[in-house]
Amino acid sequence: MAGRFIVFEGIDGAGKSTLINRVSEILGSEGVSTVVTAEPTDGPVGKLIRSGAVKCISQDAEALLFTADRACHTAEIIKWKDEGKTVLCDRYYASTMAYQSANFNGTESKKEWLKELNRPVIIEPDITILLDVDPEEGMRRVGARGARSKYEVAVYLERVRENYRQIAEEYGFRIIDASHSRDEVLKETMKIIGE
Ligand code: TYD
Repeated sequence: MAGRFIVFEGIDGAGKSTLINRVSEILGSEGVSTVVTAEPTDGPVGKLIRSGAVKCISQDAEALLFTADRACHTAEIIKWKDEGKTVLCDRYYASTMAYQSANFNGTESKKEWLKELNRPVIIEPDITILLDVDPEEGMRRVGARGARSKYEVAVYLERVRENYRQIAEEYGFRIIDASHSRDEVLKETMKIIGE
């Protein structure tokens, strides 16, 4: 039987990676074979993105890179699913739609473009769980980092969060309040997966 494909989304500091590892442990103890994976990936395009080697890149080109990385990733995800594995994925197409349209100041035409761009290279997840958290809280968790000022990051992530919420509504994602304790978030996640 084909495995399930479960995606976790949310702004930086929402707690996705810790949660995914705990979900994987629980499913593993129940005899479910899982693969934990993430975007940007460890593949060549993902490595290029993470390296920061591509400088002076336009926002459109950045969206293309994330989507190219995803195209390779989708092929792997299909293979894992066919092997009967449950794929737990940290970020998928909604990340590009939420983050890259925040870069574009969220104009509708860009949102449509990002949607169309991704359509041919994705498969629909069985469930997408959005970990929703206030950007101030997310930043507190990861520690303010990067070249932008703390204020700019908060403003940017607030836009990303708003985009995520709109996308979640449009695509029927499950939303979990990630300001709750880790145990509560885990419990809620397992309940959703159990359904
Ligand atoms: P992140 O999940 O934070 O990876 P890591 O914790 O290993 O650094 O992803 C890195 C950043 O990439 C994050 O700020 C979100 C951003 N991102 C996009 O802007 N668009 C995308 O399509 C993806 C997948 C990530």
